[in-house]
Amino acid sequence: MERKKITIPDIKAKKEKKQKITMLTAYDYPNALLMDRAGIDMILVGDSVGMVVLGYDSTVPVTMDEMIHHSKAVRRAVKYALVIGDMPFMSYNISKEEAIFNAGRFMKEAGCDAVKLEWVNNVVDITRAIVDSGIPIMGHIGLTPQTASQLGGFKVQGKDAETAKRLLDSAIKLQDAGCFSIVLECIPSEIAKIITEKLTIPTIGIGAGIDCDGQVLVTHDMLGLFERFTPKFVKQYANLSPEILKAVEKYKEEVENLKFPSSEHSFIIKDEELKKVKGK
Ligand code: KIV
Repeated sequence: MERKKITIPDIKAKKEKKQKITMLTAYDYPNALLMDRAGIDMILVGDSVGMVVLGYDSTVPVTMDEMIHHSKAVRRAVKYALVIGDMPFMSYNISKEEAIFNAGRFMKEAGCDAVKLEWVNNVVDITRAIVDSGIPIMGHIGLTPQTASQLGGFKVQGKDAETAKRLLDSAIKLQDAGCFSIVLECIPSEIAKIITEKLTIPTIGIGAGIDCDGQVLVTHDMLGLFERFTPKFVKQYANLSPEILKAVEKYKEEVENLKFPSSEHSFIIKDEELKKVKGK
């Protein structure tokens, strides 16, 4: 069957048809190429790039320019998936004007199809303003890494009735403000189920159980490429770090012991030409 570029109505229709939505993060050309080839519905250029690629301790230091740089690389690779740029900390929190300007950069400079914003107190008004300017938005509630310290660290959210109700209320507000979808991060499965049933837009879970309309993981976590810590909700589908280490150690050993490059990986010049070079 001929594949078509995935659109926002396609993502919404999947919820109506009860078809699960797949999303992964990507930050570079080769990985985005493979994800698109595998048929992933949505590719998030997450600000998790700060931790899993750039080596920061958190996502807070990530800049707009870094996000645009990585989003452009992903965009060049992707033909079919919906590409979503993750707005970094303080790129949407200061004023509506600045938020619209920065969301516009993801669309105009990087060619993204939508942007994602994490929950902060003024995010509903900002979301409405960005949506009104013509840019599709994915919301993000629950554990929001950019403001994790305010939440008491990287902890499950909505574990008591009061905070769970607040999450449901936030989800409804974001839907009313025009979000086309919402990420639910690190919340009890039963609460994610209630939110998913109440909303008409799709929920994408990460540590939020099986009943969300779709799932997302940070690719470096699920491929075993980030060793600093692995959250409980991550399933490792591959363990690539030891494979890469083995390959690099083998290369070092072969170079040091004159096993690489062999003639198979070298170029030759005809004898008569070589003689001329040597002056014979
Ligand atoms: O930055 C990111 O990778 C994210 C996902 C965890 C949803 O926001």
